[in-house]
Amino acid sequence: ELSPIDKAKFAAAKRAVDFVEDGMKLGLGTGSTAAFMVRCLGERVRSEGLRVQGVPTSNRTAELARQLGIPVITLDEAKWLDLTIDGADEVDPQLNLIKGGGAALLQEKIVATASERMIVIADAAKDVPQLGAFPLPVEVIPFGWQTTQLLIGQVLEGLDVGGRETTLRRAGDQPLRTDENNYILDLHLGRIGNPRQLALMLNQIPGVVENGLFIEICDTVIFGHDDGRVTLRD
Ligand code: A5P
Repeated sequence: ELSPIDKAKFAAAKRAVDFVEDGMKLGLGTGSTAAFMVRCLGERVRSEGLRVQGVPTSNRTAELARQLGIPVITLDEAKWLDLTIDGADEVDPQLNLIKGGGAALLQEKIVATASERMIVIADAAKDVPQLGAFPLPVEVIPFGWQTTQLLIGQVLEGLDVGGRETTLRRAGDQPLRTDENNYILDLHLGRIGNPRQLALMLNQIPGVVENGLFIEICDTVIFGHDDGRVTLRD
């Protein structure tokens, strides 16, 4: 028996998998909601003989897809994808997103950008009027990361945000390492006045690899509710 939040995540995931057609090349997202999607996809592959190829956005998702018998290929083998289905941490009314709560934002952004269509699946609590309550993940190169952190602080000085604290994400007593062996800085902004401007300015800093703002990348959001209903926005 699923908890109310898992019921919402599952409902969104299940609806998204209805959009998958035979022969598609798919981007497979990361996180607990995306994991429900991979399970639903695996079920269609098994029961209908649906033929798809999946490009995972993390080692975790790759392992799950393989376990479920979903054929896995690399992005270089696929080059372009028909559809990516992924979760998100926040979604605003323009379908801009914060992602990276699961530290997979870099591969997620590369894969989503390579896709004809991106569908985001999320429980309805992630539907927000303005981005920023969720700390914004920024993937940085370990070399000189404290200088990069200072430069991020300087960028934030000039911008319309609610707060400016930044923290290094940890895994136990060590800095967390992403699948690309980088670090994550979490930006506690509270409110992001201009997400597009912030995304552009962060990526101008040399030590920044990528940031968790997805601007005009997502085409459709499917929100799941804890009674099992879903609502679509595109
Ligand atoms: C992974 O890096 C993130 O972008 C996830 O998509 C996001 O954190 C959503 O995860 P949940 O579905 O577990 O909330």
